[in-house]
Formats: sequence, structure tokens, C-alpha cells
Amino acid sequence: MTHHICLMPGDGIGPEVIASARKVLEALPLQWEFAEYGIGYGEYQHSGSPLPDSTLQGIRQAEAALFGAVTTPPNIPNYFSPVVRMRQSLNLYANLRPTRSIPHPSSRAGIDLLIVRENTEGLYSGIERVEDNGDRAITERVITRKGSERIIRKAFDLARQGGRKSVHVVHKANVLRQTCGLFRSVAIEVAQNYPDITMLEMLVDTCAMELVRAPGQFEVIVTTNLFGDILSDEACMFVGGLGVAASGNIGADAAVFEPVHGSAPNLAGTGRANPAATILASAMMLEHLDQTEAARHLRSAVADCIAHSRVTEDMGGPLTTEQMTDQVILSLRKSYERKNS
Ligand code: NAI
Ligand code: MG
Repeated sequence: MTHHICLMPGDGIGPEVIASARKVLEALPLQWEFAEYGIGYGEYQHSGSPLPDSTLQGIRQAEAALFGAVTTPPNIPNYFSPVVRMRQSLNLYANLRPTRSIPHPSSRAGIDLLIVRENTEGLYSGIERVEDNGDRAITERVITRKGSERIIRKAFDLARQGGRKSVHVVHKANVLRQTCGLFRSVAIEVAQNYPDITMLEMLVDTCAMELVRAPGQFEVIVTTNLFGDILSDEACMFVGGLGVAASGNIGADAAVFEPVHGSAPNLAGTGRANPAATILASAMMLEHLDQTEAARHLRSAVADCIAHSRVTEDMGGPLTTEQMTDQVILSLRKSYERKNS
């Protein structure tokens, strides 16, 4: 069976890290067909849009998509963020951010956490206005039963698939009584359908503190848009930071996986970009494609390289992007050989 994948390299180091991920995927014992589509500032200069309809169509037609990064250009009047637009146009309602310990001195041990963030509503509803001659600004925080139910179900489903025992529902219902109140009551209803998984509740400020104090207590966190944005950036700093942070955007009909980092224009073309985040985003994509064994091998290959300092300079290693990619492929082969022997 051939997996059809949409690749969107984007700007800056995006094309370099996507080329790495593609090379690694091609080294797996799986069949691929890749189609490349344009996104970002370069695409805007070329076609007049940072996210042409053809790209959206390419994502919809593929089984999954892998996205590098884009550069946000200086003020251009009709420019829009292709990342936000992509999430909205394809209704990619679930943002997944796994956070796992890595064998590196900068990483804390004992962490294996998945943050499931609602990606389409909440304080990022986009409903804003200014009153009082500009002296009063209002943003509407929109929480719906439908939006809450699907994200909370997603979190419990992923917990079950991953063999995890608990889900923390993070909110601020003591103050945001209506919006977080609805999110919380939907969570309590949904949790009834998952007797094998314990639902725990935590207020968002307590959660921010507990993540620093004892991150190992969390298995899955599900929360609203802004809270998830902040908590997931906080959490990734315990386990290696931007060089290894990956994420997924999942909808009912499309899925886009990407590194958390941006286009790092300072590194573009220098061969210093760490490809690990995009390779780990590919591992998330493999899980989404039900290739869990390949995902496991790929993760262990990346961990092996990190443990032996076969990494780029941001992680204290001597390798270029291409050299690290080749080392991941070598470790991958060894991982498969160990399994077969
Ligand atoms: P950035 O993530 O591109 O870079 C932040 C710092 O991390 C820089 O020092 C960079 O050199 C380093 N870095 C990032 N990725 C790395 C990698 N793979 N290996 C080694 N070091 C890495 O964020 P910054 O500098 O704030 O933004 C640069 C551009 O990227 C901007 O135009 C911004 O709008 C855009 N951006 C795009 C995102 C996306 O496409 N999803 C996300 C964040 C920023
Ligand atoms: Mg963020």
C-alpha cells in the first residue's frame, strides 16, 4: 500500500528540514508518493498568495501532510498567515503536542506527556472590536459544546490508543464560569464513556506551576486554545526545546504535521538547521497513518543519535543537517536489524 503525502516545504530552513524528513521516510520499509505544494512568503512572491487553493486541495487529497515553516514578511497589506488560514480552512480542530524526555543533558527525565489543544475557537475566535473611540478593546472567547466535545473525545481516544491511564482537563471554570464552565461540564459527560481512563481536573494557573514542579505526573492534558498554546510552549522547554519539538494539526478530513519552530532565516542555507523536530513530526504522521511500529523505530533512531551526540550544533553536536539526517537513517537501520535478529 502506498501512502500519499503532501509536502509543504515553505520558507527559510523549511525546505531543508522537509528534505531531511523525506529522506528518512524513504529509508523506511514503506511505500510513499510525495506531492510538493507551495506555502509562505516565497509562494506569495511567486503566485500572489501565501496559501493557494491548489495547496489546500493538495492537503485534502493526501492521506496526511508534512509542513516545514514559513516566514512572516514585514507589513504587506493583503498578506495573511497561511498557518492560521490553513487550520481554519481545513477545520484542523486538534493541535497535538507530544512532550517526551530525550537522552540529552538539557532534558528532564520521566516525561511522556501529550497536550491536546483546541485549535479553532476560544480566545482565538477572531471576533474582536474596539469601542469608546479606541479606549476599549474586546475579544470574544467562544466555546461551543460541539467544539469542546470533539476535542475532549480526541484526547480520551488518544489516551486510550496510547495505553495511558489519565487525562487532565485544564480550565479556569472558577472565574470563566460560562466558557470554561461549558468546557468542563462537557468533559465530565464525555469522560463517562471512558471508564478505563481517569479524568482529573486542574485550574490552568495550577497546571502551569505543576508542569514546572512535577511534569511526570501528566499523561494527557486537554484544554482550550490559548491555554494550550501557552502550556505546550512551556512544556517543550523541559525536553530539548525547539530543535526537537513537533506537532500535529488534526481535523475530520485532513491532518498536517509540522515542527514547532519557525523558518529560522538566520540558519537558512548554512546547513545548521536541526532536522529532528521535523523527523519527529514525521513519526507523529506515521502514527496517524497507523504505522505505529515504524514510528517507534524512528523515535528510537532519533533518541539514539541524541544519546551519542550525533546532532547539530544547537544540541551541542558537530553535525550538519544532512549529516545528522544520514545518522538517523543509520540508527534506523540498526533499530530494524535489532528487531529482526
Ligand atoms: P524560529 O523558530 O524561526 O527561530 C527561533 C530561534 O531558534 C532562532 O535562534 C533559530 O535559529 C532557532 N531555531 C529554530 N529552528 C531551529 C532548528 N531546526 N535548528 C536549530 N535552531 C533552530 O522563530 P523566529 O526567529 O521568532 O521567527 C523566524 C520566522 O519564522 C518569522 O518570520 C516567524 O514569523 C516565522 N515563524 C513561523 C512559524 C511556522 O511556520 N509555523 C512558527 C514560528 C515562527
Ligand atoms: Mg505557540
